[in-house]
Amino acid sequence: MRQPLVVGNWKMNGSLAKTGDLLHTLSVGINDKIACEVGVCVPFVYLNVAKFAVSDDSLLTIGAQTVSEYDAGAYTGEVSARMLADFGCSWVLVGHSERRTIFNEKNKELVKKTLAAQKNGLTPIYCVGETEADYKSGETFSVIAEQINALLNCDEVDLTQLVLAYEPVWAIGTGLTASPEEAQKVHVFIRDLVKVKNVEAAVKVRILYGGSVKPDNALALFGQEDIDGGLIGGASLDAKAFISICQKA
Ligand code: 13P
Repeated sequence: MRQPLVVGNWKMNGSLAKTGDLLHTLSVGINDKIACEVGVCVPFVYLNVAKFAVSDDSLLTIGAQTVSEYDAGAYTGEVSARMLADFGCSWVLVGHSERRTIFNEKNKELVKKTLAAQKNGLTPIYCVGETEADYKSGETFSVIAEQINALLNCDEVDLTQLVLAYEPVWAIGTGLTASPEEAQKVHVFIRDLVKVKNVEAAVKVRILYGGSVKPDNALALFGQEDIDGGLIGGASLDAKAFISICQKA
């Protein structure tokens, strides 16, 4: 039985004051009445605020939105997995579609980022998803297979220590969502790909859905057998909406 997981991705939003308030509200609201595991991926510069705003015994856990593939050294502007671990991060997003499309991150480096995260005790949340053009031309499954297989083809990746997230790019921030049945089909497809490589990992791996998840559609999405929670963008910036989504997982 997989424990559901809901992770907020704040993207490049917030201010020092707003971040402190939001973290405080969430650390109170995310309590033992919520059955799922909950994380928030905050901008790097607010990790320090998060580390101190969220107590060690809080059920709210913290993550980052990307990570360097390198350990340390002359990589101006980069943040290493060890640094994230220092700040108490549990999670790091790898290969979010905005990283893939705007910053041109490719599967090869994303696999290295996954390894860097695992090596430092972080759980990578490896994101996949097709663009609107892929979706319209019926390429969804081949695009997802390519993104997932990049990970599966690397023997060093520990498939039992990661989370996968399916985020159709056309559903991100648009108010459109894949229907629960449509998303479930992709999640089964992803789980089957993992199964070919590692049966135990396929049973264990949590596959999150992301793309315009809101309090009013969360229940139907999370009700699908292979949807193990959500990766939440816009709605995670609103404490009430985010807690409501967590209550549905
Ligand atoms: P929205 O929930 O705003 O569509 O964003 C989803 C997302 O990109 C989470 O990583």
